[in-house]
Amino acid sequence: MTISKCSLVLLVITLAVASSSNAQTRQRIPFNEFWLFQKGDPVGAGDTLSYEKIKDWVRATGNEFVRDGVKRVRPQTQIGGDVVYTSSSYNDTDWRKLNIPHDWGIEGPFNQDYPGETGKLPWFGVGWYRKHFTVGANEKNRRFYLQIDGAMAYSTVWLNGEFVGGWPYGYASYELDLTPYVKFEGENVIAIRLDNPPDSSRWYPGGGLYRNVWLVKTAPLHVGHWGTYITTPDVTIDNATVDLKVMVNNGLASSSSATVKARIYELDLSGHRLPASIATASTSVQVPANSNQVASLSANVRRPKLWDLQSPRRYVALTVIEQGGKTIDEYETIFGIRTIKFDEQQGFYLNGQHVYLKGVCNHHDLGALGSAINIRALERQLEILREMGVNAIRTSHNPPAPELLDLCDRMGFVVMDEAFDAWRRGKKKNDYHLIFDDWHEKDLRAQIRRDRNHPSVILWSIGNEIGEQGNAEGHALAASLTKIVHEEDPTRPSTAAANNRNAGYNGFQKTVDVFGYNYQYGDYGKFREANPSMPLFGNETASTVSSRGEYFFPVDPDKSKGRADFQVSSYDLYAPRWAVPPDTEFEAQDRFPYVGGEFVWTGFDYLGEPTPYGGDSKTRLEFTDPQVQQQMDNELKQLGQIKVPSRSSYFGIVDLCGFKKDRFYIYQARWRPDLPMAHILPHWNWPERVGLITPVHVYTSGDEAELFLNGRSLGRKKKGQYQYRLRWDEVKYEPGELRVVAYKNGKRWAQDVMKTTGNATHVVVSADRSRIKADGNDLSFVTLRLTDRAGLMVPRAQNLVRFSISGPGEIVAVDNGDAASHTSFQAKERWVYKGMALAIVRTKKGLPGQIHLRAESPGLRSAEVRLTSVR
Ligand code: GAL
Repeated sequence: MTISKCSLVLLVITLAVASSSNAQTRQRIPFNEFWLFQKGDPVGAGDTLSYEKIKDWVRATGNEFVRDGVKRVRPQTQIGGDVVYTSSSYNDTDWRKLNIPHDWGIEGPFNQDYPGETGKLPWFGVGWYRKHFTVGANEKNRRFYLQIDGAMAYSTVWLNGEFVGGWPYGYASYELDLTPYVKFEGENVIAIRLDNPPDSSRWYPGGGLYRNVWLVKTAPLHVGHWGTYITTPDVTIDNATVDLKVMVNNGLASSSSATVKARIYELDLSGHRLPASIATASTSVQVPANSNQVASLSANVRRPKLWDLQSPRRYVALTVIEQGGKTIDEYETIFGIRTIKFDEQQGFYLNGQHVYLKGVCNHHDLGALGSAINIRALERQLEILREMGVNAIRTSHNPPAPELLDLCDRMGFVVMDEAFDAWRRGKKKNDYHLIFDDWHEKDLRAQIRRDRNHPSVILWSIGNEIGEQGNAEGHALAASLTKIVHEEDPTRPSTAAANNRNAGYNGFQKTVDVFGYNYQYGDYGKFREANPSMPLFGNETASTVSSRGEYFFPVDPDKSKGRADFQVSSYDLYAPRWAVPPDTEFEAQDRFPYVGGEFVWTGFDYLGEPTPYGGDSKTRLEFTDPQVQQQMDNELKQLGQIKVPSRSSYFGIVDLCGFKKDRFYIYQARWRPDLPMAHILPHWNWPERVGLITPVHVYTSGDEAELFLNGRSLGRKKKGQYQYRLRWDEVKYEPGELRVVAYKNGKRWAQDVMKTTGNATHVVVSADRSRIKADGNDLSFVTLRLTDRAGLMVPRAQNLVRFSISGPGEIVAVDNGDAASHTSFQAKERWVYKGMALAIVRTKKGLPGQIHLRAESPGLRSAEVRLTSVR
């Protein structure tokens, strides 16, 4: 399949989340409640179920995603039948009862001896989940499928003691056909074994059934798994052509004919389907026995409402399968009508309009909640990022939870959907390279089939900082992955995250459609000279490190400094060897306006990779000056003896709690130039620094600003070309008030005030949402601040606080954003860090009512917040 590199017109869609209450058609039932859980294998099982021993059986899963490779045939013999946990008669009554999504790692405890780069949490090892369920005798002619959105990792599944299948990659979604194993009398018992190898990740992966699981029931003839693919090849103001390919599966032993119909409806902005269909199409299909057949339909949508970032309009295609006039399946596919294109001049265009990519990379964990997917927690992340001006998300470095893409579709973000962090060359002893050859084709095709209907997805990234960028083998691999991308979805380009600057010239660049550099801001010009017609953007940028509310003096301009007490100064000047402050990347992007934007490392802090306190060669800070390097190495050695506590990253623009660091405002100033804003740093509580130089930096969307200390002007400064912050580097500290007045085009534009506070006297709590749903999933994020009598947050307060709750809610996690803290995320007590802490409250399913969250700290006035949980 050929694809034009600089004018890809992409049009799209969203995942088919089919559901229906009509038992005659399809049912997609959430399968998250009432699981039983146990860590470890049963005594005596040995390593009989290790992947190496059973891979011939596991690899036979997912043959529908094999086109180039070998389709494996499952050996006739059974496996695992002799391991008691797989047996339906095993007595599991003493197992722990829980609901999924569940991440066993986040429960802790933290352990100093675990690697910091994966969070110092026990996410590794073996875990088993079992679930009992019944199926009605009247369902004998139905098909049964188990859909797992993500299981970390090497999951294998038994039903009633019989092996069904499995999938090693913990970020993959997959489906298993349970039909041959289902019992219609008595109980069915599903048993899932997960095996998370240590030393398999560069960040915290979590462990467990950490995403949603579904039970799907269909008629024998039905729409296949991820069986719809919608494209919109022609879009004008008056009309959009909507092409729909439907894969119809026939589970019967005889060939069957059916009518396939599609009805298209508009969704309103909150996702409700409008009553009348606006377009229809119909065709007929003959599906051979035990096989599948693709039906093609086409419809026209008059005066289409385009999906764009300001107004992310969506449609839904309802696919109906009929036999003999009777509806036997209904399947929903949400999609969007839009065009996308990349070119070498400016980068990315959405619906013909240039869109500069204001992107962030994020890992999948949700801070104190771990990696267990929670829609509200993800939505909150996106809300915070949007406030900063973000319009693009990179799912570093793996397929995301499907709900992230649903949210991006609904909220109007574009997405770079990434597949892998390693190919054949591993980065960790037990990472993806061990299974690359057997699984990459299935993983990549499965990811694209799952995600290709989402209008938000604009790029498929075939890999991050792959070790093979520099050799011919790697180029051939990259080309084969791009070929898969084009086969599965000719409407979107492939890209890869290249940290090797030679990858821009050595031929690697020709293996992808759109080129993305990681940290090679100095090479944008050279790249363009060598590749005049190739679209280019910053795939991963900055990697500035900072801790919220920490400032160290003197303010050292050396980017490798600014560290103390396992924290990094928040002047936003500090970064590891390969990385830079935000300003440096801004300058490179502005000098070379054909660079289509950037994806900053990272939007949110994440568990693991606590550079510069990683303490191993991969994550330690590296220096150009050998003397400094020596000093740092010695320091690290010493720290090794006292043990580095850091367990989460310093890279986030926003901390692990979702609290904004100063850096938030330098990005907001650039990315939301029309929002009047100014932000002063540092805080102004430095009793020990009276008379000492205490530099003041200001981030503003204005172009000029005047700073006042206790009413005296410290001068008005204007941003020069390639200046992104205003600095008053000679300010001598005196307590009182700093005020900045910003100007734009000579007119007063915005102001910010920073005051010296008194001692902490009050606990203050505020909820991000006080009305939440009694569904057992919804969350309220409650921010705690310690304030002085005047209500000002006391920026160095570190008191102990205690949370308690009454009513139908529970405190599921607490945090304070301190990357070096080992307090359990499930504790009810927490040291405040730099004036702030967080409590996350979850509702109880089916129990509406008033929830009171109370926060107390010895010697301070306590506080309470009231939440209402509603049906
Ligand atoms: C990049 C890598 C990321 C993260 C980052 C830290 O090289 O792609 O996963 O490790 O460095 O700066």
